[in-house]
Amino acid sequence: MENGFFITFEGGEGAGKSTQAHLLKERLKQDNIDVILTREPGGTKGAEALRKLLLFGRCNFSLQAEIMAHFTARRDHVDQLIKPALNQGKIVVCDRYIDSTLAYQGYGLSEGDPDILFFIQKLSNLINLFPHLTLIFEAPFDILKKRRYKRQSQIDDYEKLEDSFHYRVLYGFKQIAKKNGKRCKIINANQSLQDVERDVYNLVFRKLSILKQ
Ligand code: TYD
Repeated sequence: MENGFFITFEGGEGAGKSTQAHLLKERLKQDNIDVILTREPGGTKGAEALRKLLLFGRCNFSLQAEIMAHFTARRDHVDQLIKPALNQGKIVVCDRYIDSTLAYQGYGLSEGDPDILFFIQKLSNLINLFPHLTLIFEAPFDILKKRRYKRQSQIDDYEKLEDSFHYRVLYGFKQIAKKNGKRCKIINANQSLQDVERDVYNLVFRKLSILKQ
């Protein structure tokens, strides 16, 4: 594959992963490592336009159409930004990726319907770019809920969904971590910012050292 290194950050809303993704990028830059930070849905002009529709458009897409829209954004992001960066040997840090579709659309919206999980799996295989490392930010449901309510940013259509949806999303991430133990590492997000930052950096550093051997 590419010579770069692909890291994804995953978890429910309010887990602090976007802040940590920024901190990791800054830390790697200080280490003179060529790194880019990006996000999903988004990262390219077309994918950012789809982001607006998916997060704030109240489009009421059918579930499979919604999943395909996330994958349309993803395909563009992978083709135009992620793969070229990896081919140049860069580290790509991506805030959310395929596991978010599995957790939100698969476990959350479809309540774990095996046909939908299979559908997402098939689209993932078409994309055929899997992260070297995925950090899944975990914290108890009530803590995340409190943090969600405190947030200043514009509330998207997913955030507005009921508690049971968010509960299933967290359960989904747990299942994903269990099934992909080699790729996925859990980050305890219920700690101070500095402690989370240290855990993130240590895990990334360890994985990079293993790959270099
Ligand atoms: P964002 O603000 O980037 O995430 P966060 O709230 O963690 O900072 O919002 C992205 C939203 O899109 C979030 O609610 C999860 C959702 N999403 C999906 O439902 N499916 C997907 O495939 C992706 C990438 C995101």
